[in-house]
Amino acid sequence: MIYMSNRVTQLLGIQYPIIQGAMQSVATAKLAAAVSNGGGLGVIAAGGLSADKLREQIHESRDLTDKPVAVNLMLMATNIPELLQVILAEKVPVVTTGAGTPKLFIDDLHAAGIKVIPVVPNVKIAKKMVAIGADAVIAEGMEGGGHIGTLTSQAVWPQIADAIDVPLIAAGGIADGRGVVSALALGAEAVQCGTIFSIAKESPVGDNWRQAVINADDTSTVVVGQNVRVASRALKNAETTALLQVEADQADRAAFNQRLDTALNKAVREDDAENGVMYSGQIAGLIKASLPAAEVVTYLMADARKVQAAMVQL
Ligand SMILES: Cc1cc2nc3c(=O)[nH]c(=O)nc-3n(C[C@H](O)[C@H](O)[C@H](O)COP(=O)(O)O)c2cc1C
Repeated sequence: MIYMSNRVTQLLGIQYPIIQGAMQSVATAKLAAAVSNGGGLGVIAAGGLSADKLREQIHESRDLTDKPVAVNLMLMATNIPELLQVILAEKVPVVTTGAGTPKLFIDDLHAAGIKVIPVVPNVKIAKKMVAIGADAVIAEGMEGGGHIGTLTSQAVWPQIADAIDVPLIAAGGIADGRGVVSALALGAEAVQCGTIFSIAKESPVGDNWRQAVINADDTSTVVVGQNVRVASRALKNAETTALLQVEADQADRAAFNQRLDTALNKAVREDDAENGVMYSGQIAGLIKASLPAAEVVTYLMADARKVQAAMVQL
């Protein structure tokens, strides 16, 4: 069975091998706690938060669940030292990292008993992360929402699985049982999903964002920021069209990033589905309902078991 003898569930102290991906401005304490209460691992996104806000979010998550809740550090942020102090003081059980290497502080986290799981886009970076002591790696294919690499899930998962001896968590393009089973077949021991959780009931996004995901089809997303090395996948709208023009005009990387952050906040806080940026993966076309986060976890598990049971014997 999918959930038996799983190194990831044991490592993280969770029931099911389902992780809610960090989502800047979207993966709040409320969403993360709901996922953890459902037996998966919820992750609070620290991207865009001050140290005080992160502490508040950690405390809020602990008011909502006694299960483990992780924190994600986007290493492009300029306040990483302050965020790390909060993570160490609060003894957060698990930290996932993106957009950089946790090399300089992984020993401090381990000394505090914190598991460290970097998100990686290719074999070379996966091996580097294992060499510095990562407890597991999350391999994310370019079909996923948010910041992405260049390889597809189908290609990158098995190649990373063969290159590492720590558990592999697969991300990018998973929103049903077929996705979960395909990840396991390609060498993963758990999955991380973003887009399907982005419109869970406990997510802070508004009705326009929810409806945009529900209405999306397989070609509704676009990658912006490739020219300035911040490739990010989002639902196509007026803002992504404008961003493509900005990067064609040789935008400055920092300024582009700033505009992305502002537009993401506009989408979350004002529910502006045209002038905001709604990060989403290509799998948005498969998502047809906004469910409570715990139901997403049970749906993914039940559907995966159904798919496994119905598979043709070779
Ligand atoms: C709205 C949104 C924001 C995201 N922000 C982050 C982030 O702050 N940090 C991070 O490591 N990944 C981020 N991601 C990536 C997700 O954590 C996850 O790996 C990805 O969504 C998986 O692919 P999927 O969207 O096909 O499920 C984001 C994704 C979305 C959809």
